[in-house]
Amino acid sequence: MHVPLPDTRRFRLTFAAVLALATGFCLAAAPAVESPEAAAGKSRFEKLCVACHGKAGEGREGRAPKLQQRPDLATDFIRTRIREGKHGDHAMPPWGTVLDAPAIEELVAYVTWLAGHPTDEAGTTLTPFSLDDPDRIAAGRKRFNKTCAGYCHGFDGSGGRAPDFKGRPNLDPQFLYDTIYHGREGTEVMPSWGDALPPNTIWELVAFLRHLGQQPAE
Ligand code: HEC
Repeated sequence: MHVPLPDTRRFRLTFAAVLALATGFCLAAAPAVESPEAAAGKSRFEKLCVACHGKAGEGREGRAPKLQQRPDLATDFIRTRIREGKHGDHAMPPWGTVLDAPAIEELVAYVTWLAGHPTDEAGTTLTPFSLDDPDRIAAGRKRFNKTCAGYCHGFDGSGGRAPDFKGRPNLDPQFLYDTIYHGREGTEVMPSWGDALPPNTIWELVAFLRHLGQQPAE
């Protein structure tokens, strides 16, 4: 069977663009912080709350107040407001009617974290566990070689049709997570895994890819 190979030159160009983007992200991003609850709350927040409160809780004019760097917001108040919402011209929906208690607590943990952090740290990556944990790296490696290696990436992330990962110590965790979650359409399509894989599995893949990035290039 004839399998069409990508046009390597165009592919290299895309790769260069992606790398440049990744490097840009790196410079902006602070080191990862571990907090299982807040990390889960962050992904929930990015689905449910950003339309009004902004991507990192910076607030949106005419829609909703900022939630970052708000020492005035006490955790109990945050919990009540999320659960019960508030009527008004600009209403805050009552999330207690659609989310269960653990989900609310995750949001409370994240918003409390946001409220306690200065604006320039609000975009910080929150990981649910340490990305240096060898067990997580091993789990990510197993998943990678089962799901990602065969068709596009090559065993252990080298020699596939997609960019190699080794020799790239600056791979930004949030950039990797978002790329796996949302996929990307370039010369080659990277599928979106956000619906297929739970967040912890994606973070394990990120842990493994970061680990690969720290190996010497082949
Ligand atoms: C439809 C727009 C909208 C969405 C979606 C939304 N909010 Fe709000 N939120 C508001 C508005 C408007 C206020 C201000 C209400 C007031 O005090 O009048 C608010 C207030 C808050 C407050 C209190 C802030 C303060 O200054 O008093 C918190 C905490 C909060 N929202 C969290 C969340 C979380 C967490 C989510 C996602 C689960 C969310 N909001 C989704 C509109 C929204």
